[in-house]
Order: sequence, then structure tokens, then C-alpha cells
Amino acid sequence: MIEQRIKAAIRDIPDFPKPGIIFKDITPILKDHELCMAITDAFIGQLKGIRIDAVAGIESRGFLFGLTLANKLGVPFVPVRKAGKLPYAVKQKVYDLEYGTATIELHTDAFEPGSRVLIHDDLLATGGTVTAASELIQEMGGIVAGYTFVVGLSFLNGKEKIAPVSDNIIVLAE
Ligand code: PRP
Ligand code: MG
Repeated sequence: MIEQRIKAAIRDIPDFPKPGIIFKDITPILKDHELCMAITDAFIGQLKGIRIDAVAGIESRGFLFGLTLANKLGVPFVPVRKAGKLPYAVKQKVYDLEYGTATIELHTDAFEPGSRVLIHDDLLATGGTVTAASELIQEMGGIVAGYTFVVGLSFLNGKEKIAPVSDNIIVLAE
């Protein structure tokens, strides 16, 4: 089963990037091309019946499966980037972190108003990042079609945070 395969591949790194945090290292997944394809296929299977016009991947680890997913769905991929990285005109969103704030940006021509945009990231923790992305997409006239994550840390209740935006929340391993 895909969930067991993902869990077996993920490497837990204690106290990274700071004491008390157990970092979920997905790089062993990326070395296994069969698992990478199985992950993309699992997303495609679970997204059946949901209309998607574009996939928005969150910098940086959300780019890894986000582009493959968009390619397989046959829709555009749009990168949600950290501030100052996108070269064309941007719309940005500032959001709160535990300490301080962060800023994400999308190109103003990322998608047409009314588009149904799937948000993809590798990991759902607090849900803060994808909530900011959801707000940005909605402010630009998009509709959040759903969310896909390879891994979710269920004890942080990220799903509850994003559930009001869309029921379509796919987390392959929790
Ligand atoms: C990690 C992860 C998600 C986000 C999840 O990214 O890849 O994007 O944090 O956290 P949240 O649900 O609490 O918002 P990180 O900021 O470490 O950057 P990276 O993807 O560039 O490594
Ligand atoms: Mg990330």
C-alpha cells in the first residue's frame, strides 16, 4: 500500500532544523522512481471526478510532485514562490509564522479568474503555508479545487484549518 511505502521511505531527522523538531526528510522517496510514480498515480486516482484547471505548487518541496501531477493531469503548473523570486508582476500574501512573518507570491497571470486551482505541497503541518496560498489564490479570483500532500502531521490539525476552504484534501500518509 502506498501509505506504508511512503512511511518506510521517509527519514526522521531529530532536532532539525532546531531542537525539538523531528524533520520529515523526503529525499529517500525521490531516489525511488517507482515510488515517485506510484505517489503521482495515487494522487491522480484520488482526484478523479474533481475539475482542476491548474496545479499550484508551494516552494520548494511542493515543486517536486506538483509539476509531475500537473503534467499528468494535463493542466498548467504555477509556482507559489517565496518573496522576490518571481520575475514578472506578482501578487503577494504576508502570513504569520510562529516568530515573525513570511511572504509568498504568484505571478499575476498565473491563472484566469474563475479557474479551479489544486494546491500541492509535500507536507501538511500546521496548514499555515497552504492557507496563505489559498487566500492568495482566492484574492486573485481563483477557486481552490482541493489540496494534495504526500505526508501529513495529523497531531498539528492542519486538515481542520483548511477544511472550510475545500473538502478535497488528499494526504497519502499520516
Ligand atoms: C515545509 C513543508 C511545507 C510547510 C508545512 O516547508 O515543505 O511547505 O513547511 O508547514 P505548515 O503546514 O506548518 O505551513 P519549508 O518552509 O520547510 O520550506 P521548503 O519546502 O522550501 O523546504
Ligand atoms: Mg515547503
